[in-house]
Amino acid sequence: MCRSPSPVSGSTLFDQILDPANRANPYPLYAELRKVPVARQEDGTYVVSGHAELARLISDPRISSDDLPDPQKFRWTGHPVTDLLVRPVRAEIRKRHRPFIFRDPPDHDRLRGQVMRCFTPERVRGMRAKTQEITDDLIGKMRGKTQIDLVDDFSYPLPVTVICELLGVPPEDEAQFHGWATQLATALEPNQRGDAETQAKNEVCFNEIADYLQGLIKEKRKDPQQDILSDLATDKEGMNDFDLIATAVLLLVAGHETTVNLITNGMLTLLRFPEHGERLRAEPDLAPRLIEELLRYEPPVHYRTRVALTDIPVAGITIPKDAPVIFLLAAANRDPIRFPDPDRFDPDRPDNRHLGFGGGLHYCVGAPLARIEAEVALVSLVRRLKGVSLIEDPPPYRPGASLRGPRHLRLALEGVA
Ligand code: HEM
Repeated sequence: MCRSPSPVSGSTLFDQILDPANRANPYPLYAELRKVPVARQEDGTYVVSGHAELARLISDPRISSDDLPDPQKFRWTGHPVTDLLVRPVRAEIRKRHRPFIFRDPPDHDRLRGQVMRCFTPERVRGMRAKTQEITDDLIGKMRGKTQIDLVDDFSYPLPVTVICELLGVPPEDEAQFHGWATQLATALEPNQRGDAETQAKNEVCFNEIADYLQGLIKEKRKDPQQDILSDLATDKEGMNDFDLIATAVLLLVAGHETTVNLITNGMLTLLRFPEHGERLRAEPDLAPRLIEELLRYEPPVHYRTRVALTDIPVAGITIPKDAPVIFLLAAANRDPIRFPDPDRFDPDRPDNRHLGFGGGLHYCVGAPLARIEAEVALVSLVRRLKGVSLIEDPPPYRPGASLRGPRHLRLALEGVA
């Protein structure tokens, strides 16, 4: 396939991607963008949408994640974790509470290394039984209903309960954590987060979480338990308390909305292509492959942002030093040069190395956990929900273009097994 190497401006296309009116199906726009795999926008931002180019640049040390955007400087706003964690709080807190997703080596590697030591495969595998328990409980509550909203009734509460358990938030405080997660998620809505009232609420929310975590860290140091916060708080090469709080909030935020979207997009896809739902019901061992294909076909994270540290020649152009760079992961996942027939949902796809969890140094810490949650959730839903059908297709979407997913997924039910 022939692609033009010339730096054609794609600004109107990226503006259309940000437009909530195109949230239900951004894929034709991505296909247009991919015609120029690294495209300069009119504001000087570079959008990378080709798989080969993105796979190379995401591991390139000349590209930095230390890109906490100056809101005056960058026009695009889909920087969800920044908007949640950074923009709403005062400058000095902002500087101290910077999560490692926005840091470069060596700080990034030190902090991430400490988290990875706690996220042991045994601990993550150990979450399967708890995830099943929470799933069974949430599905049990659907009994007697003829209609549910999968987002509010299932996909939303599951990941936050799982992450509370892992972090070691006592069960009696979980409801409060749900509330904070919900408040922080409102900051993801571009039409709300700019307003002063939402920013003030988010600042209060962040400060409440920080105070709460500070108290919890103290308790964990006094009386460590089998949980991630205890491990981090008592690590001999430990983090300071600012980093500890930023890390705990990062785990909450990065692991929440994303997993909600994977489960909801998953069910939506299985209902759109019922033969795959039927197959999963009959063959639960298909789940891992089906979830990898979902991460390619309907990824929860559509793009991530970076900054070029130096001039970088790529795909026939040069990304100049200091230019903001957008990695359009969801477009690369449908690049026909890498994935034959990319718009087809095919769990049997061989060599499915998608970019749904990113790549390089910042590859998702929670990938093994997210896979377990999605497997347990989707297998349980297709097995237990009887006579289930979509009430509206497409469903209403959250306005966010980066963390993209339905706000509601209303389903009609005939029963629950
Ligand atoms: C990073 C996707 C679930 C924690 C990332 C990145 C992506 C991603 C694309 C790369 C960010 C970048 O390159 O800037 C997802 C998806 C998930 C998911 C699609 C669910 C389906 C989780 C969960 C957790 C988690 C459950 C934790 C409990 C993190 C953290 C990072 C990260 C801490 C930052 C890693 C670093 O900067 O080194 N995730 N994630 N994620 N994710 Fe996930």
